[in-house]
Amino acid sequence: MSHTKFLTRCLQLATYANGRTSPNPMVGAVLVYKGQIIGEGYHHRAGEPHAEVMAINSVQDQSLLTSSTLYCSLEPCAHYGKTPPCSVLITESRIPKVVIGCSDSNDLVNGKGIAHLKSHGVEVVLSENPAAFRELNRVFFCNKDLKRPFVSAKWAQSIDGYLDRLRTKNERATLISGPLASLKTHQLRATADGILVSAKTLNWDQPSLSTRNYFGRNPRPIVLVSSYLPDESALQKLSSPPLFVGNAAMLEGDKIVCDPQAIEHWLPKLLDFGIHHVLVEGGGRVLQSFFDTGCVDEWHRYTSLHTLSSGIPAPDLKLSGTASNLGEDCYERG
Ligand SMILES: NC(=O)c1ccc[n+]([C@@H]2O[C@H](COP(=O)([O-])OP(=O)(O)OC[C@H]3O[C@@H](n4cnc5c(N)ncnc54)[C@H](OP(=O)(O)O)[C@@H]3O)[C@@H](O)[C@H]2O)c1
Repeated sequence: MSHTKFLTRCLQLATYANGRTSPNPMVGAVLVYKGQIIGEGYHHRAGEPHAEVMAINSVQDQSLLTSSTLYCSLEPCAHYGKTPPCSVLITESRIPKVVIGCSDSNDLVNGKGIAHLKSHGVEVVLSENPAAFRELNRVFFCNKDLKRPFVSAKWAQSIDGYLDRLRTKNERATLISGPLASLKTHQLRATADGILVSAKTLNWDQPSLSTRNYFGRNPRPIVLVSSYLPDESALQKLSSPPLFVGNAAMLEGDKIVCDPQAIEHWLPKLLDFGIHHVLVEGGGRVLQSFFDTGCVDEWHRYTSLHTLSSGIPAPDLKLSGTASNLGEDCYERG
């Protein structure tokens, strides 16, 4: 029988916890007996039981485990953390076969889960198409493989490629995109741990950087400080106290004191503040410098039908992504 159906169900289950498992991966698991699902589970949040434990515990007739196949979206763990290793639970439950979406490159696992299963006589099958499973946990794999947060970049631009008209600080920002783009942005914010702007954009736009148009948590504001110091009035409007990056020695609060232009230098340090996924919301120079440094893992662009003719240039992007209509805007993701 094809494993696709049950592995797809694992993916579905895993995404129920989207945005809530950091710093852990999202994982789903399914137990199958004679072609029928008899147990399901997913990892709800860090510190809580893993997907395999939830799935095994959900099986009413535990005697069926010895004749069942366990499907899981990620290699079962092999280390003692806040919970005992899942690979040990699987062998103690005498489950004879395990089908895995993708292996876990986390140093603590990295093949050890599979090795434990095989050494205890469990038949292990790895999916022939691990891409979807790695994509599900792209934040987690970026953290483990590149030792830095996953970076999403987002902006709204006019059809002729500007983020805003040229204006003074006291003039209001140009409203570029429509309400559906705002909704989509707030959905994205709910999945990020941190949201990054420059002190210039903070002072000029006075944003709250909150997830107010969607359900979920607010990402922590991160403010790049160099020639512009953040205004007290702008800081007051933020959803929570920010983390400063830059020449911020004189500012009260959490900070990484360094040259904010040296992105590769300070980006990994965000992990120490629990920021595993950062959303860069501009402005133009900050977005461009993230692209120039090669530190953007994913981007979201909203293009409106407005023409501005001149202004703050949007990132100069040679790539194209998948495009769809979002109300009056074109939404692209790459
Ligand atoms: N449409 C949108 O989606 C959107 C989103 C955000 C902002 N905006 C608009 O964009 C405008 C601001 O954009 P902008 O390009 O003028 O300024 P910006 O990119 O917001 O900020 C530039 C400032 O950030 C400092 N900075 C610190 N670290 C940096 C780094 N790693 N890379 C680049 N700069 C860094 C620069 O310092 P130095 O001076 O020391 O070089 C400079 O003072 C505003 O009008 C705002 O309303 C639009």
